[in-house]
Amino acid sequence: MSDFHERMHAAGIYGLWELASKMTKHPEPRAIAHMWPSALLEAMVREAGEAVPIGEERRALQLFNPGLEGQWATTNTMIAAIQLLLPGEVARAHRHTPTAIRFIMEGEGAYTSVDGERVYMAPGDLILTPSWAWHDHGNATDKPVVWMDGLDVPLIQALNAMFFQMYDQEKFPLTKPDNASAALHGHVSLSPTWVKERPRSSPLLLYSWAQTWRSLAGLRDADADPHDGIALEYTHPQTGRALLPTMACWIQMIRPGARLRAHRHTGSAVYYVVQGAGETIIDGCRFAWGRGDVITLPSWALHEHANTSTHDAAILFSIQDRPVLEALGLFREEALTEGEGHQAVTSTFKVT
Ligand SMILES: [Fe+2]
Ligand SMILES: [Fe+2]
Repeated sequence: MSDFHERMHAAGIYGLWELASKMTKHPEPRAIAHMWPSALLEAMVREAGEAVPIGEERRALQLFNPGLEGQWATTNTMIAAIQLLLPGEVARAHRHTPTAIRFIMEGEGAYTSVDGERVYMAPGDLILTPSWAWHDHGNATDKPVVWMDGLDVPLIQALNAMFFQMYDQEKFPLTKPDNASAALHGHVSLSPTWVKERPRSSPLLLYSWAQTWRSLAGLRDADADPHDGIALEYTHPQTGRALLPTMACWIQMIRPGARLRAHRHTGSAVYYVVQGAGETIIDGCRFAWGRGDVITLPSWALHEHANTSTHDAAILFSIQDRPVLEALGLFREEALTEGEGHQAVTSTFKVT
Protein backbone atom coordinates (compact mmCIF):
# COMPACT_ATOMS: atom_id res chain seq x y z
CA MET A 1 0.00 0.00 0.00
CA SER A 2 2.66 2.54 1.01
CA ASP A 3 4.71 1.51 -2.01
CA PHE A 4 1.64 2.22 -4.16
CA HIS A 5 1.31 5.72 -2.61
CA GLU A 6 4.97 6.46 -3.19
CA ARG A 7 4.79 5.49 -6.84
CA MET A 8 1.54 7.42 -7.26
CA HIS A 9 3.01 10.64 -5.72
CA ALA A 10 6.16 10.27 -7.82
CA ALA A 11 3.90 10.22 -10.88
CA GLY A 12 2.14 13.44 -9.79
CA ILE A 13 -1.03 11.69 -8.63
CA TYR A 14 -2.76 11.91 -5.24
CA GLY A 15 -5.80 10.03 -3.98
CA LEU A 16 -8.78 12.11 -2.89
CA TRP A 17 -8.81 9.89 0.25
CA GLU A 18 -5.52 11.58 1.18
CA LEU A 19 -6.96 15.10 0.84
CA ALA A 20 -10.34 14.84 2.56
CA SER A 21 -9.54 17.61 5.05
CA LYS A 22 -8.86 20.16 2.26
CA MET A 23 -12.57 20.46 1.51
CA THR A 24 -13.27 22.57 4.61
CA LYS A 25 -16.80 23.03 5.99
CA HIS A 26 -16.43 26.81 5.62
CA PRO A 27 -13.68 29.19 4.41
CA GLU A 28 -10.45 28.90 6.39
CA PRO A 29 -8.35 31.79 5.08
CA ARG A 30 -4.61 31.92 5.68
CA ALA A 31 -4.88 35.72 5.79
CA ILE A 32 -5.48 36.96 9.32
CA ALA A 33 -7.12 40.05 10.79
CA HIS A 34 -4.44 42.66 11.38
CA MET A 35 -4.06 46.39 12.01
CA TRP A 36 -1.41 48.90 10.98
CA PRO A 37 -1.75 51.89 13.33
CA SER A 38 -1.52 55.41 11.93
CA ALA A 39 1.46 56.35 14.14
CA LEU A 40 3.47 53.50 12.62
CA LEU A 41 2.35 54.31 9.07
CA GLU A 42 3.09 58.02 9.48
CA ALA A 43 6.59 57.34 10.84
CA MET A 44 7.37 54.87 8.03
CA VAL A 45 6.03 57.25 5.38
CA ARG A 46 8.18 60.10 6.75
CA GLU A 47 11.26 57.89 6.78
CA ALA A 48 10.58 56.56 3.28
CA GLY A 49 10.40 60.18 2.07
CA GLU A 50 13.91 60.78 3.40
CA ALA A 51 15.48 57.44 2.53
CA VAL A 52 13.92 56.40 -0.79
CA PRO A 53 14.09 58.37 -4.04
CA ILE A 54 11.05 58.13 -6.29
CA GLY A 55 13.07 56.63 -9.18
CA GLU A 56 11.18 54.57 -11.76
CA GLU A 57 8.79 53.13 -9.20
CA ARG A 58 6.23 54.40 -6.73
CA ARG A 59 7.14 55.22 -3.12
CA ALA A 60 4.38 53.03 -1.77
CA LEU A 61 4.54 51.01 1.45
CA GLN A 62 2.83 47.69 0.80
CA LEU A 63 0.90 46.24 3.72
CA PHE A 64 1.72 42.52 3.86
CA ASN A 65 -0.70 40.31 5.74
CA PRO A 66 1.28 38.43 8.44
CA GLY A 67 -0.71 35.27 7.69
CA LEU A 68 0.28 35.19 4.03
CA GLU A 69 4.00 34.51 4.52
CA GLY A 70 5.59 37.26 2.50
CA GLN A 71 3.03 37.23 -0.29
CA TRP A 72 2.38 40.64 -1.90
CA ALA A 73 -1.10 40.76 -0.42
CA THR A 74 -3.08 42.45 2.36
CA THR A 75 -5.98 40.03 1.88
CA ASN A 76 -6.13 36.95 -0.36
CA THR A 77 -7.33 39.15 -3.26
CA MET A 78 -6.21 42.72 -2.55
CA ILE A 79 -3.14 44.75 -1.66
CA ALA A 80 -3.32 48.03 0.23
CA ALA A 81 -0.41 50.45 0.33
CA ILE A 82 0.40 53.91 1.64
CA GLN A 83 1.97 56.11 -1.01
CA LEU A 84 3.90 59.36 -0.59
CA LEU A 85 4.61 61.91 -3.30
CA LEU A 86 6.83 64.80 -2.25
CA PRO A 87 6.62 68.35 -3.62
CA GLY A 88 7.91 68.50 -7.20
CA GLU A 89 7.84 64.73 -7.74
CA VAL A 90 6.28 62.80 -10.61
CA ALA A 91 5.48 59.08 -10.46
CA ARG A 92 6.12 57.97 -14.06
CA ALA A 93 3.39 56.90 -16.46
CA HIS A 94 2.67 53.19 -16.66
CA ARG A 95 -0.28 50.83 -16.93
CA HIS A 96 -1.15 47.39 -15.61
CA THR A 97 -4.04 44.94 -15.62
CA PRO A 98 -4.58 45.21 -11.84
CA THR A 99 -7.24 47.81 -11.08
CA ALA A 100 -6.38 50.52 -8.53
CA ILE A 101 -8.17 52.96 -6.29
CA ARG A 102 -6.65 55.81 -4.27
CA PHE A 103 -8.20 57.25 -1.13
CA ILE A 104 -6.53 60.56 -0.32
CA MET A 105 -5.23 60.82 3.24
CA GLU A 106 -3.26 64.06 3.29
CA GLY A 107 -2.35 66.95 0.98
CA GLU A 108 -4.34 68.92 -1.56
CA GLY A 109 -3.75 69.84 -5.19
CA ALA A 110 -1.58 66.96 -6.41
CA TYR A 111 -2.95 65.07 -9.41
CA THR A 112 -3.37 61.66 -10.91
CA SER A 113 -3.72 61.53 -14.65
CA VAL A 114 -5.71 58.61 -16.06
CA ASP A 115 -5.80 57.99 -19.83
CA GLY A 116 -5.21 61.66 -20.62
CA GLU A 117 -7.43 63.20 -17.91
CA ARG A 118 -6.06 64.88 -14.82
CA VAL A 119 -7.98 64.72 -11.57
CA TYR A 120 -6.86 66.78 -8.60
CA MET A 121 -6.73 65.32 -5.11
CA ALA A 122 -8.15 66.54 -1.82
CA PRO A 123 -8.36 64.61 1.47
CA GLY A 124 -11.21 62.08 1.46
CA ASP A 125 -11.43 61.90 -2.34
CA LEU A 126 -11.64 58.52 -4.03
CA ILE A 127 -9.85 58.26 -7.37
CA LEU A 128 -10.01 55.30 -9.75
CA THR A 129 -7.45 53.79 -12.09
CA PRO A 130 -9.28 51.12 -14.10
CA SER A 131 -7.45 48.07 -15.41
CA TRP A 132 -4.96 48.85 -18.20
CA ALA A 133 -5.45 52.66 -18.01
CA TRP A 134 -2.27 54.73 -18.40
CA HIS A 135 -1.60 56.74 -15.26
CA ASP A 136 0.95 59.02 -13.68
CA HIS A 137 0.88 61.06 -10.50
CA GLY A 138 2.38 64.50 -9.92
CA ASN A 139 2.72 66.84 -6.99
CA ALA A 140 3.28 70.45 -8.07
CA THR A 141 2.30 71.78 -4.64
CA ASP A 142 4.70 72.66 -1.82
CA LYS A 143 3.39 69.99 0.59
CA PRO A 144 3.62 66.19 0.57
CA VAL A 145 0.60 64.19 -0.52
CA VAL A 146 -0.23 60.79 1.00
CA TRP A 147 -2.89 58.33 -0.07
CA MET A 148 -3.96 54.75 0.38
CA ASP A 149 -3.73 52.59 -2.74
CA GLY A 150 -5.97 49.55 -3.10
CA LEU A 151 -5.31 47.06 -5.92
CA ASP A 152 -6.57 43.61 -6.85
CA VAL A 153 -3.01 42.35 -7.41
CA PRO A 154 -3.25 38.95 -5.63
CA LEU A 155 -6.42 38.13 -7.57
CA ILE A 156 -4.84 39.07 -10.90
CA GLN A 157 -1.78 36.99 -10.00
CA ALA A 158 -3.94 34.00 -9.06
CA LEU A 159 -5.63 34.29 -12.47
CA ASN A 160 -2.24 34.60 -14.23
CA ALA A 161 -3.50 37.75 -15.94
CA MET A 162 -0.75 40.22 -14.96
CA PHE A 163 0.46 42.61 -17.65
CA PHE A 164 2.55 45.72 -16.99
CA GLN A 165 3.93 48.35 -19.31
CA MET A 166 6.03 51.47 -18.78
CA TYR A 167 5.19 54.49 -20.95
CA ASP A 168 8.17 55.81 -22.90
CA GLN A 169 7.80 59.30 -21.45
CA GLU A 170 7.43 60.52 -17.88
CA LYS A 171 3.84 61.70 -18.37
CA PHE A 172 1.06 60.35 -20.57
CA PRO A 173 -0.19 63.14 -22.90
CA LEU A 174 -3.26 65.07 -21.70
CA THR A 175 -6.11 64.70 -24.18
CA LYS A 176 -9.09 65.75 -22.03
CA PRO A 177 -9.90 68.75 -19.80
CA ASP A 178 -9.08 68.40 -16.10
CA ASN A 179 -11.79 66.50 -14.21
CA ALA A 180 -13.56 65.77 -17.54
CA SER A 181 -15.16 62.58 -16.18
CA ALA A 182 -16.66 64.48 -13.23
CA ALA A 183 -18.12 67.09 -15.61
CA LEU A 184 -19.64 64.30 -17.74
CA HIS A 185 -20.60 61.59 -15.24
CA GLY A 186 -20.56 63.27 -11.83
CA HIS A 187 -24.26 64.16 -11.68
CA VAL A 188 -26.39 62.44 -9.10
CA SER A 189 -28.92 60.26 -10.96
CA LEU A 190 -28.41 62.07 -14.26
CA SER A 191 -26.48 60.27 -16.97
CA PRO A 192 -25.38 61.75 -20.33
CA THR A 193 -27.51 59.98 -22.96
CA TRP A 194 -25.05 60.51 -25.82
CA VAL A 195 -22.36 58.44 -24.15
CA LYS A 196 -22.90 54.95 -25.61
CA GLU A 197 -19.87 53.25 -24.09
CA ARG A 198 -20.56 51.23 -20.96
CA PRO A 199 -17.11 50.44 -19.55
CA ARG A 200 -16.87 47.73 -16.88
CA SER A 201 -15.11 50.17 -14.56
CA SER A 202 -16.85 53.38 -13.58
CA PRO A 203 -16.16 56.12 -16.14
CA LEU A 204 -16.26 58.63 -13.26
CA LEU A 205 -12.68 58.86 -12.02
CA LEU A 206 -13.12 61.16 -9.01
CA TYR A 207 -15.60 60.77 -6.15
CA SER A 208 -15.06 63.94 -4.13
CA TRP A 209 -15.10 64.03 -0.36
CA ALA A 210 -17.41 67.06 -0.48
CA GLN A 211 -20.09 64.95 -2.20
CA THR A 212 -19.43 61.87 -0.05
CA TRP A 213 -19.70 63.91 3.12
CA ARG A 214 -22.94 65.58 1.98
CA SER A 215 -24.49 62.16 1.47
CA LEU A 216 -23.30 60.82 4.82
CA ALA A 217 -24.40 63.93 6.68
CA GLY A 218 -27.82 63.82 5.01
CA LEU A 219 -28.31 60.25 6.24
CA ARG A 220 -26.86 60.63 9.72
CA ASP A 221 -30.23 59.95 11.36
CA ALA A 222 -31.18 57.07 9.06
CA ASP A 223 -32.17 53.80 10.63
CA ALA A 224 -29.56 51.98 8.59
CA ASP A 225 -27.97 48.53 8.61
CA PRO A 226 -27.68 46.71 11.96
CA HIS A 227 -24.22 45.34 10.98
CA ASP A 228 -22.73 48.13 8.91
CA GLY A 229 -24.40 51.30 10.13
CA ILE A 230 -24.83 54.10 7.61
CA ALA A 231 -22.90 52.29 4.90
CA LEU A 232 -22.86 53.73 1.38
CA GLU A 233 -21.35 52.04 -1.63
CA TYR A 234 -19.69 54.15 -4.30
CA THR A 235 -21.37 53.15 -7.55
CA HIS A 236 -20.81 53.05 -11.29
CA PRO A 237 -22.91 56.02 -12.50
CA GLN A 238 -24.29 54.20 -15.57
CA THR A 239 -25.17 50.85 -14.00
CA GLY A 240 -25.64 51.70 -10.32
CA ARG A 241 -23.50 48.67 -9.49
CA ALA A 242 -20.05 48.26 -7.93
CA LEU A 243 -17.69 50.83 -9.38
CA LEU A 244 -15.06 48.29 -10.42
CA PRO A 245 -15.39 44.69 -11.63
CA THR A 246 -13.15 43.29 -8.89
CA MET A 247 -13.44 45.78 -6.03
CA ALA A 248 -16.22 47.63 -4.26
CA CYS A 249 -15.59 50.77 -2.24
CA TRP A 250 -17.70 51.69 0.78
CA ILE A 251 -17.88 54.62 3.11
CA GLN A 252 -19.67 54.02 6.39
CA MET A 253 -20.61 56.24 9.28
CA ILE A 254 -21.11 54.81 12.75
CA ARG A 255 -23.06 57.09 15.02
CA PRO A 256 -21.63 58.24 18.39
CA GLY A 257 -21.94 55.43 20.94
CA ALA A 258 -23.32 52.93 18.42
CA ARG A 259 -22.39 49.26 18.81
CA LEU A 260 -23.28 47.39 15.62
CA ARG A 261 -24.11 43.69 15.50
CA ALA A 262 -21.73 40.95 14.40
CA HIS A 263 -21.95 39.16 11.09
CA ARG A 264 -19.68 37.33 8.70
CA HIS A 265 -19.58 36.93 4.98
CA THR A 266 -17.41 35.61 2.21
CA GLY A 267 -15.02 38.14 0.75
CA SER A 268 -12.26 40.18 2.35
CA ALA A 269 -11.93 43.89 3.13
CA VAL A 270 -9.40 46.54 4.07
CA TYR A 271 -10.68 49.42 6.21
CA TYR A 272 -9.14 52.87 6.55
CA VAL A 273 -10.32 55.00 9.47
CA VAL A 274 -11.19 58.39 7.99
CA GLN A 275 -12.23 59.93 11.29
CA GLY A 276 -13.31 59.09 14.81
CA ALA A 277 -12.40 56.41 17.31
CA GLY A 278 -13.88 53.00 17.86
CA GLU A 279 -13.25 49.31 17.86
CA THR A 280 -13.90 46.30 15.67
CA ILE A 281 -14.17 42.86 17.24
CA ILE A 282 -12.93 40.26 14.74
CA ASP A 283 -13.34 36.59 15.73
CA GLY A 284 -13.23 37.62 19.39
CA CYS A 285 -10.18 39.90 19.11
CA ARG A 286 -10.64 43.59 19.87
CA PHE A 287 -9.00 46.03 17.43
CA ALA A 288 -9.20 49.53 18.96
CA TRP A 289 -8.83 52.08 16.19
CA GLY A 290 -8.52 55.78 15.51
CA ARG A 291 -8.03 58.13 12.59
CA GLY A 292 -5.53 56.87 10.00
CA ASP A 293 -5.39 53.23 11.11
CA VAL A 294 -5.68 50.46 8.50
CA ILE A 295 -7.39 47.16 9.38
CA THR A 296 -7.65 44.05 7.25
CA LEU A 297 -10.56 41.61 7.52
CA PRO A 298 -10.32 38.07 6.10
CA SER A 299 -13.20 36.20 4.52
CA TRP A 300 -15.79 34.62 6.81
CA ALA A 301 -14.43 36.23 10.01
CA LEU A 302 -17.11 37.35 12.48
CA HIS A 303 -16.87 41.12 12.85
CA GLU A 304 -18.69 43.96 14.54
CA HIS A 305 -17.88 47.67 14.63
CA ALA A 306 -18.49 50.12 17.45
CA ASN A 307 -18.00 53.84 17.87
CA THR A 308 -16.50 54.37 21.33
CA SER A 309 -16.94 58.14 21.28
CA THR A 310 -20.17 59.56 22.63
CA HIS A 311 -19.82 62.84 20.70
CA ASP A 312 -18.25 62.26 17.30
CA ALA A 313 -19.24 60.11 14.36
CA ALA A 314 -16.73 57.51 13.17
CA ILE A 315 -16.17 57.06 9.44
CA LEU A 316 -14.61 54.02 7.77
CA PHE A 317 -13.61 53.77 4.13
CA SER A 318 -13.14 50.26 2.78
CA ILE A 319 -12.20 48.25 -0.26
CA GLN A 320 -13.86 44.88 -0.64
CA ASP A 321 -13.67 42.02 -3.14
CA ARG A 322 -17.42 41.42 -2.91
CA PRO A 323 -18.12 42.03 -6.66
CA VAL A 324 -15.98 38.98 -7.49
CA LEU A 325 -17.83 36.77 -5.01
CA GLU A 326 -21.18 38.07 -6.25
CA ALA A 327 -20.32 37.59 -9.92
CA LEU A 328 -19.44 33.97 -9.20
CA GLY A 329 -22.46 33.28 -7.01
CA LEU A 330 -20.22 32.78 -3.97
CA PHE A 331 -21.33 35.63 -1.74
CA ARG A 332 -22.77 34.34 1.56
CA GLU A 333 -23.64 36.29 4.65
CA GLU A 334 -24.67 35.22 8.12
CA ALA A 335 -25.61 37.21 11.22
CA LEU A 336 -24.50 36.17 14.68
CA THR A 337 -27.66 35.28 16.57
CA GLU A 338 -26.24 34.26 19.96
CA GLY A 339 -25.25 36.84 22.57
CA GLU A 340 -27.76 39.33 21.15
CA GLY A 341 -25.52 39.64 18.11
CA HIS A 342 -22.32 40.42 20.00
CA GLN A 343 -19.20 38.30 20.37
CA ALA A 344 -17.37 37.56 23.57
CA VAL A 345 -14.06 39.43 23.52
CA THR A 346 -11.25 36.96 24.20
CA SER A 347 -8.16 38.97 23.20
CA THR A 348 -6.96 42.44 22.27
CA PHE A 349 -4.82 43.26 19.26
CA LYS A 350 -1.43 44.70 20.17
CA VAL A 351 1.11 46.19 17.82
CA THR A 352 4.29 44.11 17.85
FE1 LIG B 1 0.21 51.98 -11.18
FE1 LIG C 1 -19.25 43.20 7.09
